[in-house]
Amino acid sequence: MPSSSLPNKGADRRSFLMATVSTAAAPLLPGAPGAAAATAPATENPHKPVDAIVKVNGRDHQLAFDVRTSLLDLLREHLGLTGTKKGCDHGQCGACTVLLDGRRELSCLTLAVTVQGRNVTTIEGLAPNGELHPMQQAFIDHDAFQCGYCTPGQIMSAVACVNEGHAGSDADIREYMSGNLCRCAAYPNIVEAVKQAKPAMKTASRD
Ligand code: FES
Ligand code: FES
Repeated sequence: MPSSSLPNKGADRRSFLMATVSTAAAPLLPGAPGAAAATAPATENPHKPVDAIVKVNGRDHQLAFDVRTSLLDLLREHLGLTGTKKGCDHGQCGACTVLLDGRRELSCLTLAVTVQGRNVTTIEGLAPNGELHPMQQAFIDHDAFQCGYCTPGQIMSAVACVNEGHAGSDADIREYMSGNLCRCAAYPNIVEAVKQAKPAMKTASRD
């Protein structure tokens, strides 16, 4: 068969692709039928910073930040409060625990914009004048850490655990502290620290 009578497969394929692409793109071309319907309405820049006042450790901070910012990133990146640690950033380890109106919360799972009007307490806020909180002192007394990375979260959680009335026994303390992981396995010492701090917290009437 003469080559001129062979079907030009390359050309056919190109024509097919061109036809497909131009059909698909037609609504996007200015002036093409359907172009107006496909044009997205003009919206505000979703990354525009939002203004918010956030109260941390008894002090109001006027800030502007991306609405998607987590409380953890706000504390660390915007306020320089690096005592609160980022472990997993997924709500799994407890390293980022802070108190919101006295209740423990995972700051990595909390949007910063939602804490307006609430009191955020971080590890820095437990010793505002350099005097250690009874729980901080107890962690030192009982060597309740090794690398120390989980320790701020453990201490914040331990303070709330006592205030919630969940430190009545070793088993209770283990149960209600189980959301705070320690890769160094300082768990027995942490239980002892919580037991020591509990009566001292009542006496001192501290958070
Ligand atoms: S960093 Fe928030 S739970 Fe791990
Ligand atoms: S002290 Fe190292 S992770 Fe807890």
